[in-house]
Amino acid sequence: MENKPKVFVTRLIPQVGLQRMRQVAELDVWPEELPPPYETLLERARGKAALLTLVTDRIDARLMEAAGGALKVISQYAVGVDNIDLAEATRRGIPVGHTPGALTEATADFTWALLLAAARRVIEGDRFVRQGRWKTWGPQLLLGVDVHGATLGIVGLGRIGSAVARRARGFAMQVLYHSRTRKEALERELDVQWAPLPELLRRADFVSLHTPLNDETYHLIGEAELALMKPQAILINCARGGVVDPQALYRALKEGRIRAAALDVTEPEPLPPGSPLLELPNLIIAPHIASASRQAREAMARMAAENLIAGLKGERLPHCANPEVYRA
Ligand code: NAP
Ligand code: GLV
Repeated sequence: MENKPKVFVTRLIPQVGLQRMRQVAELDVWPEELPPPYETLLERARGKAALLTLVTDRIDARLMEAAGGALKVISQYAVGVDNIDLAEATRRGIPVGHTPGALTEATADFTWALLLAAARRVIEGDRFVRQGRWKTWGPQLLLGVDVHGATLGIVGLGRIGSAVARRARGFAMQVLYHSRTRKEALERELDVQWAPLPELLRRADFVSLHTPLNDETYHLIGEAELALMKPQAILINCARGGVVDPQALYRALKEGRIRAAALDVTEPEPLPPGSPLLELPNLIIAPHIASASRQAREAMARMAAENLIAGLKGERLPHCANPEVYRA
């Protein structure tokens, strides 16, 4: 019988990805709804040639050591790779794949779903109706704020930030962005204007976060930044929970220093029961589902499978999060 390389897949990703990988590898798939505990991850990674990982898996030096010398590639079923010690992977010569682009439009759609829901109080309205409180059409009932014509501030004008900006045109919004580097071609294409972060926070009616999470962006939005925002402003976070200081956000929302927020991602994830954030009526929280359209998740599965297979063959990954590994 043919000896296929062994791969640990840390959750049931869409079949299209599993089937593709089964053509070349023997898969050990973690079948549970919850991720494998870290100790289990260490055990199941042992001796594997490749790992197909999720944002919920901590992939650190100890894990790579436990996997052993056979490990040729780590393929992440996500674009963000903040759960993976990339520097350690590079040091060990292990390329790390990820899924840029496959989920860009789905994530931008969801960002807009949150933005509109927060601006026009859709979730509060739904609760109001289900609680039997809807008695009549009310001239002052659940007043929100206009989206059309407002100013949108995008922090991180990458793939997803740009897709969010593109949609803002349909709402006749003025769009400001902040990234570490100016994107002059995008400024012309998308009709967006660069601003330093404090200026963007002062001017925007909606602030939407789209940076990766790293040492530089950890708690990028904290007490001081929230204090710069307008009292009517709304914060949307579809990036990573750690980009926002949750305690500072709680205080700003509770004291009405900003109008509302909508989060697809939190710190920690999931929020513990009893988290004070859960009591705030002016906060929408989604369970990290911005990329969760069937089409996006299948595209991610295909992309993750192709990265993994390239790594097994010793070929350059089509989408590599640590390309410096090839310079070593
Ligand atoms: P991307 O194309 O790499 O864009 C990230 C942008 O952030 C870059 O343009 C970068 O530009 C900018 N940036 C980096 N550090 C910054 C800083 N300190 N201040 C301001 N801007 C900064 O990545 P993407 O595909 O758009 O994805 C972005 C992130 O979204 C991912 O890393 C992931 O964490 C998150 N995400 C979440 C979901 C979800 O389900 N909620 C889904 C997909 C992605 P400069 O280098 O010029 O600063
Ligand atoms: C999801 O959060 C991703 O980074 O793809």
